Amino acid sequence: MARRTVRGIEIEKLAHGGDGLGYLPDGRVLFVKDGLPGDIVDVEVVKEKKSFARGRVKEVTTPSKHRVAVQCEAFENGCGGCQFWGVGYDQEMEWKVQAAWEAMKRISKLDLPEPRVEKAPTIFHYRNRVIFHQRREGDDLRRGFFAARSRKIIDVQRCPVADKAINEAIEEFGGPLSMVGKADIMMETAGDGGVVVLVELLPGERISHDALNELSRRLEQGVVVRGIEILDDRGKYFILGDTTVAASELLARPPLESMQMKAGRFRQANSEVNRKLVDYVRDAVEEKFGGDDAGPAPRIVELYCGSGNFSFPLAELAGELVGYEGSSAAVEAASQMVEMDDEMTHVHFEVADLSEIEVVSQVLSEPFDILVLDPPRDGAPEVAEEMIGDHSARQIIYVSCDAACLARDLKTLCLGGWKLEELSFFDMFPRTAHLETVAILTRD
Ligand SMILES: C[S@@+](CC[C@H](N)C(=O)[O-])C[C@H]1O[C@@H](n2cnc3c(N)ncnc32)[C@H](O)[C@@H]1O
Repeated sequence: MARRTVRGIEIEKLAHGGDGLGYLPDGRVLFVKDGLPGDIVDVEVVKEKKSFARGRVKEVTTPSKHRVAVQCEAFENGCGGCQFWGVGYDQEMEWKVQAAWEAMKRISKLDLPEPRVEKAPTIFHYRNRVIFHQRREGDDLRRGFFAARSRKIIDVQRCPVADKAINEAIEEFGGPLSMVGKADIMMETAGDGGVVVLVELLPGERISHDALNELSRRLEQGVVVRGIEILDDRGKYFILGDTTVAASELLARPPLESMQMKAGRFRQANSEVNRKLVDYVRDAVEEKFGGDDAGPAPRIVELYCGSGNFSFPLAELAGELVGYEGSSAAVEAASQMVEMDDEMTHVHFEVADLSEIEVVSQVLSEPFDILVLDPPRDGAPEVAEEMIGDHSARQIIYVSCDAACLARDLKTLCLGGWKLEELSFFDMFPRTAHLETVAILTRD
């Protein structure tokens, strides 16, 4: 069935998530992909519900006065990786912070404090890790990023938000990588200007001898790419060159910067903003528990600690720090660092599946002073429920990549007696609608 087009929709503001928001003639809210506040647009409606509809811009008939020249070719061709190449950075921040804050107020029904906002130092070349998708379309092999809300590949030769070394790597290895067939290709910075490439072949794809030989040959001649790992759906691995990454690339402030760690683990995608984020969390703990009359150093429990990105800077202030994390590889890497450092005897890490309510109850059952958590997108409702009970903790620092889920958990905590002292947005992903949010809560 042909989709209907509605004409002359005025985009009034930005909705949380990055779509423009306007109204249909019948009064329903219309979320418009690629619509910017101030635009008047014709919209192709793609989804209709009782109280709202969704659509995409078919034509901008009157552009918003905030529109600027786009500086990314892939964005102009429909790449779904970014949303804000059409406006200046200050405007992007104003709109997306406002949208996230309004969504948080609506969901939490709390009187939230004015947010503190930390902009990114640069909107270019900040991403230390990028995943390219390589797919066949007819006889062609395409490589790039997915279009918004679709699996269509938008070709990408250079990405303006990817680290420059990653752009050089794709230029250097574009040819031989085409030989591996359908795959997801992760490239991440490895330190000293080098890049590691992790190729995950799609089910059924097999790497040929020719492709392996060509990749090895290029690796010997190459400048940027240090190592390549190739994995197929039988779990078969090929490792070419050096595929380790320096700890200083993966963690904000590791105790041993030159230690080499495995590639492919979770890492915060913007190293500079990550350091600001980690320093902010550390300062919040120091402000509350530091100083001469502060008493014994606090006991800290950290959930979803990864390889210790927050843990190591926090350990400098702690009497004891225990980090829990689901990935055994991440726990192994963090524990290895502890073993190599005599000043870290008060720190330890454990593998724990924090989606299990019994596990959450157990890890929070001991007395401690501070809880730090940085869960995946869905947040941590079980942790919030557990923390409103009788507990010794006096500070919670909740780091979140999804403001809406954070708002839900803040509601539980604040109705349960915690006070939200400060709310901060860190722009980890300029040009996209995402924000990293930190909430600092206290209890007497
Ligand atoms: C947003 S990352 C934060 C990691 C770390 N704080 C950092 O800054 O690098 C979320 C972490 O939660 C871990 N994780 C995901 N699901 C989990 C689960 N069910 N139980 C425990 N950890 C989990 C992931 O492995 C990942 O390390």
